[in-house]
Amino acid sequence: MRLAKYLAHAGVASRRAAEAIIADGRVRIGGDVVTDPARDVDGTVPVSVDGNAVAIGDDKTVWIVHKPRGVVSTAKDTHDRPTVVDMVDAPGTRLYPVGRLDADTTGLILLTDDGDLANRLTHPRYEVPKVYVASVGRGGIAVPDQALRRLREGVQLDDGRTAPAGVRQLKPGVLEITLREGRKRQIKRMCTEVGHPVHRLQRVAFGPLRLGDLREGKVRRLTPAEVQRLRDAAAPPDRASG
Ligand code: URA
Repeated sequence: MRLAKYLAHAGVASRRAAEAIIADGRVRIGGDVVTDPARDVDGTVPVSVDGNAVAIGDDKTVWIVHKPRGVVSTAKDTHDRPTVVDMVDAPGTRLYPVGRLDADTTGLILLTDDGDLANRLTHPRYEVPKVYVASVGRGGIAVPDQALRRLREGVQLDDGRTAPAGVRQLKPGVLEITLREGRKRQIKRMCTEVGHPVHRLQRVAFGPLRLGDLREGKVRRLTPAEVQRLRDAAAPPDRASG
């Protein structure tokens, strides 16, 4: 397909406007600037505009949600509690949460109608990092180094030993923990196991995405560039668009 047509199909701009964007040198194919609107694009080489990846035929959506306490992250709750899916107004789109957060955990959860992407983002094989901030103990008492080391190296839980984790004490009693696996209530069980039960837990990042300044209770649809970064985070190395 001609490059200008490809950009128009991908929703970048009208065909005419796409030709102008190409002429301005803003489009790269496989990393090289291309100024010929008739250049053939077959979908095997990444196309970007102003450095943002462009994909065609991708009508799937991904939303980032800042989940408040008390909202459940299943698609439907048996006790009629509000769900993260209820928080997004996307008529005609069947969205599913990517993984789970406990009802009393706040923070970043993704919703998508792309089942394949959701599976890959949560599959242990891709080891997509998830970053949490956990407040443990009360009164700002620091967690001793020995407990931090155990959390980092792996803790024996009833479903097996946890994989190595990134752990930093942001301030006394507040830990930033990065997991590359996702078992049920994992952070809470790990912290309890080392003698420092969690009383507040927030997820602040998932793969390349951070909660940033998205306020609690708010949602936003990811941009195509953000979706591409997510896809790259859960792609075999030779398929990442870099
Ligand atoms: N670990 C937990 O214990 N709870 C969550 O909600 C997420 C990770």
